[in-house]
Amino acid sequence: MSRLLIAVLMALALAACKPDAETAAPAANVVDSTDVPDPNSYAQPNRVRIEHLVLDLQADMAARTLAGSAELHLKWQDDKARELVLDTRDLQISGVEGFDGKSWKALSYRLDAADPILGSALRIKLPSALPRVRIAYSTVPEASGLQWLTPEMTASKQPFMFSQSQAIHARSWVPLQDTPGVRFTYDARIRTDASLMALMSADNDPKAVRDGDYRFSMPQKIPSYLLAIAVGDVVFKPISARSGVWAEPSVAEAAATEFADTEKMIQVAEKLYGPYQWGRYDMLILPASFPFGGMENPRLSFITPTVIVGDKSLTSLIAHELAHSWSGNLVTNSSWKDIWLNEGFTSYVENRIVEQLYGRELADMENVISQSGLLEELKSMPTADQVLALPPLAGRDPDGALTDVAYIKGQWFLMFLEQRFGRDTFDAFLRHWFTTHAFTSSHSGEFERFLTVELLEKHPGKASIGEIREWLHSPGIPSSAKPAVSARFDAIDKAQAQWLAGDVPASGLASTAWGTQEWVRFLERMPASLSAAQMAELDDAFRFTGTPNPEIAQRWYPLTVRSNYLAARPSIEKFLTAIGRRKLIMPTYAELAKTEDGRSFAEAVFKKARPGYHPITSGSVTETLKAPEPDAVQP
Ligand code: BES
Ligand code: ZN
Repeated sequence: MSRLLIAVLMALALAACKPDAETAAPAANVVDSTDVPDPNSYAQPNRVRIEHLVLDLQADMAARTLAGSAELHLKWQDDKARELVLDTRDLQISGVEGFDGKSWKALSYRLDAADPILGSALRIKLPSALPRVRIAYSTVPEASGLQWLTPEMTASKQPFMFSQSQAIHARSWVPLQDTPGVRFTYDARIRTDASLMALMSADNDPKAVRDGDYRFSMPQKIPSYLLAIAVGDVVFKPISARSGVWAEPSVAEAAATEFADTEKMIQVAEKLYGPYQWGRYDMLILPASFPFGGMENPRLSFITPTVIVGDKSLTSLIAHELAHSWSGNLVTNSSWKDIWLNEGFTSYVENRIVEQLYGRELADMENVISQSGLLEELKSMPTADQVLALPPLAGRDPDGALTDVAYIKGQWFLMFLEQRFGRDTFDAFLRHWFTTHAFTSSHSGEFERFLTVELLEKHPGKASIGEIREWLHSPGIPSSAKPAVSARFDAIDKAQAQWLAGDVPASGLASTAWGTQEWVRFLERMPASLSAAQMAELDDAFRFTGTPNPEIAQRWYPLTVRSNYLAARPSIEKFLTAIGRRKLIMPTYAELAKTEDGRSFAEAVFKKARPGYHPITSGSVTETLKAPEPDAVQP
């Protein structure tokens, strides 16, 4: 090709990229959003950015520590900068060295006093813009991002450790720039007991020899909250060529069966939003103390065992964590105020996968359940927290900003867009968003501009900017929202009304075909409390007390507390001690905390259960069981 032709083509390409006068950011011209500061990190990504991390750590299961070094490869944005500021929390730093291209030399550093939310800034002095810095350190047993389980707390009676870095806990096990606005690749060497397996959010080898010395590489750029590690007695069971489960031996078979549709889910998502970009998609089934349902650690989602109920009815959780491989892991929020870009998009994609694989009826039921949960939560939520595009979370713990607003209002907004623009147009738009923003971090303002240019202006008359802004910036649910409806739930509501009216006994309800979602609906729509006779009748007919399905337990036990149905107490105790997943157990603790007698029962149970809980769960329970404020006590 002639030089002239190249020049002409380049000029044409450049002209095509130029934004129209007023339409601001062009869709295809995307860079990391360094212009949005992250108040939940001390890092200064405008001066320097971590590009690559090399971890060399010993996981000491007895001492409950990770100890070794983190080497950071740096890309300087400001060559005159002479300080590297990292996030840490409770790390024991034993030395810092810098590499000048020839040799490693000790550097001076200072660890600031700890802020209760942010931890301590580690300030490293540099003689020049060095390409590499290495920190020798150890974690403490109480590290907020790690849970160390004693053998009794696992199925295989072996020690177990896992991380939960989101939102800002990676800093408690690695000194780094703990902000989702910075992405890096990583390599790691992890040494531990020879009888245990170590896994990371990286290239886990299904055939790895179990010898206590493991190496990992993560060639795709990830933000720090996706850095993950686990050590335990886990084995691998394949599901497809690129997917499988890691689990304790006694759980592996059931997990692989429950999640057998994973490959199909990947294919559905790929068809909608483009190729899966992360190589393998495996799942690690954690012990029941895992405080969440799932965590989308790339290549290796961390999953609660509480969704293994035998009938695949709770596998939308897998659809959710897998969906994050696009919404979140490819395009994440640049700071936590915009987490709806991550969780709202994921809830939307999750539901599309569920609909495609299991049908519209299940997808609708799940939407009705989540939307009524959101509407309930909104009743007691400050209006300032009800907007999708939150103000910066300065001085706030980002974990506290995570509500159903991000998940369900966010999903509802995308469903609204889909309804207005039509599925084909909206699918193409979302795919375009993921493709053009892959491996970057973004924020609400950028999405609003993208939406304006790519959807509103290209398809005029379908939705107004006023409607969009109401979704993003106003509290509550806009009147333009269409609530989800479910014919199956209409039938459940009818059956329930007949039972409540005394027209049909519980044993006479046509409930044989009801699945988890129907039972959840049936219980959630009950009056606040029922009579002793009604509770006993339900329990006789359906054996709710002691149910192996924790989604049913989550709704039944609070009802037993409100109805003073004490027969359930032994099973409540078992439920609250066996499981540490916050969403499942908190409603029961919250209900118990409302009466004197309930609170003392809850406190006794918590005392026994606490050693098995993750710090995140213990924190929530402690908060809920706090004695009521003196002026809130009834005279
Ligand atoms: N990424 C979240 C979990 C999370 C969010 C942890 C923010 C810490 C801070 C994960 O993808 C998630 O949303 N899990 C949900 C399950 C989902 C089906 C709604 C959970 O754990 O309940
Ligand atoms: Zn999620």
